Amino acid sequence: MKKLFVITFCTLAVAITIVSCGGSDKPGRSYMPDMSYSVAYETYAPSDERLKASGATYNHQPVKGSIARGDAFPYTIPKSDSGYARAAFVKNPLNIDSINLKEAERLYLINCGICHGAKLDGDGPLYKGGEGPFTAKPIPLVNDEKANNMTDGTMFYSVTYGKGQMGSYASQLNTKQRWEVVAYIKSKQAKKVAPAAATGAPAADTTAAK
Ligand code: HEC
Repeated sequence: MKKLFVITFCTLAVAITIVSCGGSDKPGRSYMPDMSYSVAYETYAPSDERLKASGATYNHQPVKGSIARGDAFPYTIPKSDSGYARAAFVKNPLNIDSINLKEAERLYLINCGICHGAKLDGDGPLYKGGEGPFTAKPIPLVNDEKANNMTDGTMFYSVTYGKGQMGSYASQLNTKQRWEVVAYIKSKQAKKVAPAAATGAPAADTTAAK
């Protein structure tokens, strides 16, 4: 009798185990869900559905036009011909005196020097006077009339969206870093242009003497 009882009990236990494990894909009921899921609205907690069910419109996105703390103002000029023309009037929003030019130089050398040259002469190792693997000629960024006359805003636009054979650098450099690199180029132009302007006067004199 005792044996029969043990055998029946074991068979029942095995049967229940098998039945309860298989079959349904449903996860089963959650007893006291507030203990499993935090009441606070966490990113992946199912409370989203609860919010939706209550009619709230909540999508985890910041309000349009929000600016992260410490972030620069968004650049609103679109990529278009008229955008390129308008970009020329955009001023560098950074405080020029507080820009760390050493850091800007580092960013330039990593991202731009390979084409525009460590000396900004438009002859980096990728171009190498036309013998390098990159066949499009990068413009010289110093001692060049076009570059000297180019405003900060135009440079920023071209680095942001790309220009001709040059790609966009918006994913490598954030807004602040792009303005820093532009300021670095302008600081180099200021240094190199000065002697050229100084020699301009005697050059004019010699032509007058001829
Ligand atoms: C892969 C090579 C390459 C790299 C890297 C590169 N450039 Fe250029 N860049 C070019 C070429 C080529 C042009 C000429 C594009 C044209 O006018 O068709 C150019 C043009 C420019 C211009 C003139 C844009 C205009 O409006 O006419 C500026 C300014 C400039 N580059 C700055 C930069 C800066 C800053 C970086 C680094 C963030 C950089 N470039 C990285 C190849 C490069």
